Amino acid sequence: MKKIPIWMDCDTGTDDAVAIMTAHALEELEIIGLSSVCGNAPQALTYPNTLRLNRLMGTDYPVYRGAEAPLLKKLETAETFHGKNGLGDVELPLPENPVYREERAWDALYETAKAYKGELKLIATGPLTNIAIALGKYPDLPEYLPEILIMGGSAAFGGNVTPAAEFNIYADPEAAAAVFKSGMHVVMCGLDVTMQGYFTPEDLDELEAGGTAGGRFTKACLSKAMKALTQFGLPGVAMHDSCPVVYLVHPEYFEAEEAGVYVETRGSITNGKTVTDLYSDKQFDKKNATVVLKLDRDKFIGLLKKSVSKIK
Ligand code: BDR
Ligand code: CA
Repeated sequence: MKKIPIWMDCDTGTDDAVAIMTAHALEELEIIGLSSVCGNAPQALTYPNTLRLNRLMGTDYPVYRGAEAPLLKKLETAETFHGKNGLGDVELPLPENPVYREERAWDALYETAKAYKGELKLIATGPLTNIAIALGKYPDLPEYLPEILIMGGSAAFGGNVTPAAEFNIYADPEAAAAVFKSGMHVVMCGLDVTMQGYFTPEDLDELEAGGTAGGRFTKACLSKAMKALTQFGLPGVAMHDSCPVVYLVHPEYFEAEEAGVYVETRGSITNGKTVTDLYSDKQFDKKNATVVLKLDRDKFIGLLKKSVSKIK
C-alpha cells in the first residue's frame, strides 16, 4: 500500500499527543516530519514534548523547532487543560539520545514539501504561526503544499476561548488569516465537529485497563482535562486534534461542506473568529475550505482507541 506522506505541526499538548500517536499507528500514513509551535504551552515545552513522544512510540521522527511567539500577539497558553508541562503533568522521558535539529520548522517544511512535489499533506493542530512564517518566507509554498488540514476555528459553534473564537485561531489570528488567504485549500476541523469526538471517563478506563504504554499514557495525560470538563457538565474530553488526522484517512466517518472561510483580526469581541459563508445569502468569491461539521463518534473513538493501544 502506498502511504500518504504527512507533516504534523503541533503545540504538543495532550490531544496533540493523541493525534501524533494516532497518525503513527495508522498504516495508511507515514510521518515524514514533526514541528512544534507555541500554543498550549511555550515552545520550550512543546518542542521537547514532541521529542518525548518519539521515545514513547519507539520512533525517531525528525522534530523541528518552530515559533516562540505568535506573529503579533502575546502568547497565551492553556495550562488549565494541558497542565504546567503541556502533557497533563505526566512525566514522559526524553529519548536517550535526542536529536536537536538546527534547521527551523518553516525551512524544513518548505524543503520537504518541495521534495515531495505536491504529495505531502500538512496537518496543523496548533496555532498557525509556523505555517504563516513559511508562507511569508516562501511565497511559492502553496504550489508544493496545495492542502492543509487543520484543527481550528468553528462555523456555527462559536468559540471556546472567547464567545467567538476557538483557541488555535485566537492564539494567532494574523497567522490563521494568512493561511486562509494563501491559496492553499484548508480542511477545517473546527469545534462543530471536534466537540463530537470525545473520550468518556469509561473510554479512558478501558484504555488504561488494556495495559499498553499508549493507552496508559492517554488516560494519564487526559485526566486533568477530564476532571475539569466533566465538572463543567460535558460528557468527556474532546480529541480535537485527531479529527484532521482521521479525516485524511477516513473521510467517510465525517460530513463536510465546501465554503468560503476567512479570519476576523480586528473585531473587538470577534477577534480570531473564522467567518464562513455556509449559512449566508452573500457568499465569498472563492470556496477556499472544506468545513468538517459532523463525525460518527463510535467509529472515530473506536479508531483512536485501537491506534493508541498499538503503542506497546
Ligand atoms: C485546540 O486548542 C488546544 O488546546 C487543543 O490542543 C486543540 O488544538 C482546541 O480548541
Ligand atoms: Ca493542539
